[in-house]
Amino acid sequence: MSKLLNCLINKDISCVPIWFMRQAGRYLPEFKQLRSQNPNFLKLCLNSDLSSEITLQPMKRFNLDAAIIFSDILVIPYALRQPMEFGHKYGPRNSKLNINKFLETTEKSFLSTLQPIYKAISKTKKILNKDKPLIAFVGAPWTLMIYLYNLKEQDKLNKKISIIDKNEIKLVLKKLDEFLKIHIINQKQAGADIIQIFDSWAGLIENEDLDEYCYQPNKSLINFCRENKIPSICFPKGLKENYKKFLEEVKPDAINIDYNVDPSWAKNSFGNICIQGGMKPEILLKDEKTVLQEVEKYLDIFRDNPYIFNLGHGILPKTNPGIIKKIVDRVNLVKK
Ligand code: CP3
Repeated sequence: MSKLLNCLINKDISCVPIWFMRQAGRYLPEFKQLRSQNPNFLKLCLNSDLSSEITLQPMKRFNLDAAIIFSDILVIPYALRQPMEFGHKYGPRNSKLNINKFLETTEKSFLSTLQPIYKAISKTKKILNKDKPLIAFVGAPWTLMIYLYNLKEQDKLNKKISIIDKNEIKLVLKKLDEFLKIHIINQKQAGADIIQIFDSWAGLIENEDLDEYCYQPNKSLINFCRENKIPSICFPKGLKENYKKFLEEVKPDAINIDYNVDPSWAKNSFGNICIQGGMKPEILLKDEKTVLQEVEKYLDIFRDNPYIFNLGHGILPKTNPGIIKKIVDRVNLVKK
């Protein structure tokens, strides 16, 4: 069994596997080079040959323990026929929300749009070293709703969401639940070994709405993964002390903590679950000594806990690839 799955499933603590969110991305010159020739980001995600090549770029540079397929959580609204735009100024947005088109999209049309991702997964699996699992992912329903309705552009998110028809929200959540499961199972059948669920904007949900918008939607996807024997990792970013409640409700195989979670608190409160990540991506922009000291801190706190080294969010574009190599080489020395 691979080092990463042994930690995730068997809770083995003899070594610390390592991979990074956004390990393929704009901090790598070879990515920037390919990206400059491909101005349409979604088209790049849906080009099997190029997305497979980009997935493997960091694997060639560093001794990482997993690859993550190069794609985006926003391919889902796109395959549900919403024209997602990746502008440089505002971040991604849905330029023309059409809820009827969204709700009426058929499985056949959805799968035909996403076919290149499944092709990229099977292609990548053939090339990837057998002991390196391939991680696939989806965005959680709430986080996808943020982009679907452009809610981030509103100052008063809760006011905005309260004017959306409650019944419409229910239908949207149901459609997302159904189609995210279709995307999960197709990624698994193409060869993906693990699913990570990104709920990047979970921290924006009011406490009284967490059950409806965060716990239940994540739980439904995690139960589906379990029924289909797919190891799972959740990342409900920004939940603070509610990470604990999230774990009690959702029960994924592993939990990625963000940089606002105190790692000692997590270790002492989460029970014997595999923990991933935590370190603040901004620290990687500092000098080598500071970075490696912070790495030691996480390794030390989690020395008796199943722990997958990663960050508390994605690698920033300004990061020097050299520091990633230093971190990988340090973490790979852990053997107990
Ligand atoms: O981690 C990986 O290496 C796999 C690839 C991956 C991407 N996006 C590629 C990407 C993954 C796992 C994602 C997930 C994703 N996408 C999330 C959840 C994780 C998180 O960051 O919170 C979210 C919220 C998105 C939506 C998204 N896509 C945003 C907000 C942006 C623009 C801002 C940014 O961070 O760049 C994207 C574009 C995007 N997705 C890029 C990459 C490499 C940058 C594209 C570029 O070259 O301009």
